[in-house]
Amino acid sequence: MSPPPTDGIDLALQHVGVRFGGLVALDDVSLRVPPGRIVGVIGPNGAGKTTLFNVVCGFVPPTSGALTLDGRPFRPRPHRLTRLGIARTLQGVGLFPGLSVVENVMAGASHAARAGFAAALFGLPRSDRDERRLRDVAHDLLAELGVAEHAAAAPAALPYAVRKRVALARALIARPRLLLLDEPAGGLSAEDITELGELVTALPGRAGGACSIMLVEHHMDLVMSVCHEIVVLDFGRVIAAGTPEQVRDDPLVTEAYLGADVPAGAAAPGAGASS
Ligand SMILES: Nc1ncnc2c1ncn2[C@@H]1O[C@H](COP(=O)(O)OP(=O)(O)O)[C@@H](O)[C@H]1O
Ligand SMILES: [Mg+2]
Repeated sequence: MSPPPTDGIDLALQHVGVRFGGLVALDDVSLRVPPGRIVGVIGPNGAGKTTLFNVVCGFVPPTSGALTLDGRPFRPRPHRLTRLGIARTLQGVGLFPGLSVVENVMAGASHAARAGFAAALFGLPRSDRDERRLRDVAHDLLAELGVAEHAAAAPAALPYAVRKRVALARALIARPRLLLLDEPAGGLSAEDITELGELVTALPGRAGGACSIMLVEHHMDLVMSVCHEIVVLDFGRVIAAGTPEQVRDDPLVTEAYLGADVPAGAAAPGAGASS
């Protein structure tokens, strides 16, 4: 593995719009994820969060507007993300059922690092040393995320919260400079969410490689506690942006959340109580 830069990437979206036929899913959305920062994107159901996530991953091409990465034009393509230093976790978990936990993490490594591992999977000649080194890195990541004791287990046998951590380890092994998280709190208990918040907070400064984070999330408490900046979407538009305090006190945000179907576990801003 060549040592990649670990400063975090500067991602920007400028006036991005997405239409699905007659439906405007994103309308003139501009935002920035500066190096080393955790930026949250929140909004009620149907606000356009997943669409925004998919634009950055390259699954949905913007109908208008542009993206930049470190100031250069950026046309995202899903298969090129790892090479650009971008990793993502999806709304579900998506681990490979046929691989053990540690093998799942190894599978997230960059193409070059994985070559030896893939050769091993397909029974080709390989470098045992490369594979062992990659396995050690995967073990270290599982330990960092507090799930090392599950390394040999099959993912299906594990609680959902553990599988989510494995998925995070799989994203981190590629040493991303930008990590995209889509609704990481989904399906987790309040206690699991608190622990997840602590893990995410530590990511920009971690010794194994710092990164910027874009956190797309419905769960208000998590976003409020971990993000440096928050962008609020409603009906595809940015209705507020700023620090958690600024966003929490914004009447437009309260209205968007209270006027919408607030799911269990997602407190409205200013409502205070944690779920
Ligand atoms: N592939 C698609 N085709 C048509 N409409 C879509 C598609 N994906 C999302 N939408 C619509 O775009 C809007 C935003 O959806 P989405 O990005 O999933 O919101 P969120 O993740 O905030 O709940 C919704 O009205 C949704 O129905
Ligand atoms: Mg969504």
